[in-house]
Amino acid sequence: MIALTLSGIGKTYTLETKQVSAVADINLTIETGRFVTIVGRSGCGKTTLLRLIAGLEPTSCGTMVFNPANAKIGLVFQEPRLMPWLTVEKNMAFALLNEQDRDRVQQTVAHYLKMLHLEDFSKAYPVQISGGMAQRTALGRALCYNPDIILMDEPLGALDAFTRASLQKELINIFLLSKKTILFVTHDVDEAVLLGQQVIVMGNGRILENIPVPLAYPRITASKEFYDIRTQVLQAIMLE
Ligand SMILES: Nc1ncnc2c1ncn2[C@@H]1O[C@H](COP(=O)(O)OP(=O)(O)OP(=O)(O)O)[C@@H](O)[C@H]1O
Ligand SMILES: [Mg+2]
Repeated sequence: MIALTLSGIGKTYTLETKQVSAVADINLTIETGRFVTIVGRSGCGKTTLLRLIAGLEPTSCGTMVFNPANAKIGLVFQEPRLMPWLTVEKNMAFALLNEQDRDRVQQTVAHYLKMLHLEDFSKAYPVQISGGMAQRTALGRALCYNPDIILMDEPLGALDAFTRASLQKELINIFLLSKKTILFVTHDVDEAVLLGQQVIVMGNGRILENIPVPLAYPRITASKEFYDIRTQVLQAIMLE
């Protein structure tokens, strides 16, 4: 099944009198239940592409087809963007503001608090938790919303290497459990190959390559197979 089809997507910004092409000629098909990573140099258009898919900005050209047509989209940014006056559980429940059944809200929040190992901190406020926990809360909020597609823009970029590695592992587990379609942006080649079943390499606003990663989870970064795919991704970026 196809979750999303992008055809000829482009976005041009006007900066004073100049036209800046942020993304151009994006043609991409995302299968339902796939973990897709997007990697590329700073400024190559990764965030713009996610913002277009999320509907935060209008496209300049091209068409986007979601399946289902009214697909719910969850978003996770580089910073957690939590509401400081709400506890961890209330921040997560915020995604279910329109849900009338309060028991269901509680059950859903409890489910993801457990999955994300946040049960002991459910009553804590954002200032009382670490960056990793805050990012897990943001992920929990996105999952509570029960989106068809989760878009993540460098969600682990601000974390230290240890927290990052453990959240990468958790993210794979969540993906395997939830079977969500995930689009994950990073500028870290290792992270892209570690997480993605498919790595989209972007450069200069365009898709340079779409590289499949036919390796089972969890992946062994020291293996030859991992190294070979990593090299393929790096070469695509360097050749730009
Ligand atoms: N609102 C805007 N107005 C004008 N130009 C913009 C705007 N947003 C992005 N751009 C331009 O579009 C291009 C792509 O930016 P984008 O933020 O998508 O890159 P990125 O790949 O996410 O980079 P990074 O890895 O640094 O986050 C850049 O040249 C940027 O200057
Ligand atoms: Mg960006």
